[in-house]
Amino acid sequence: MMRSPKSPFTAIALAAALITAASPALAGDTKPTPDPMRFARGAKAWADNCGRCHNIRNPKEFSDKNWSLIVKHMRVRANIDGETAKDIEAFLKASN
Ligand code: HEC
Repeated sequence: MMRSPKSPFTAIALAAALITAASPALAGDTKPTPDPMRFARGAKAWADNCGRCHNIRNPKEFSDKNWSLIVKHMRVRANIDGETAKDIEAFLKASN
């Protein structure tokens, strides 16, 4: 039969394309590339949580060192769990 079933990999391929488009860092920066799933979770958690109290801050605004401190501080304010905070931190550091 020629009819192809809906691929379960479509969503994954889409996510990968989005990640590549959203992150020049992943496309050949000198920094180590984070686990793509961590990056994807971090991007979503950042979008969901980090604009609740103030305008969402561009990853490019701060260095890796500053993001480490800011995420520690904002994790407490935002009341997010440690794993999610790590995801967000990885996303920010891969995108600045
Ligand atoms: C519950 C409300 C709340 C949430 C959610 C929140 N923030 Fe904040 N954020 C604040 C407040 C209040 C300040 C300013 C006072 C302070 O630094 O505590 C601030 C300040 C900041 C600053 C400015 C720091 C500086 O030195 O200019 C950054 C960057 C920031 N937040 C990033 C984030 C990120 C990233 C997240 C998601 C992990 C987040 N915020 C989630 C309340 C929040």
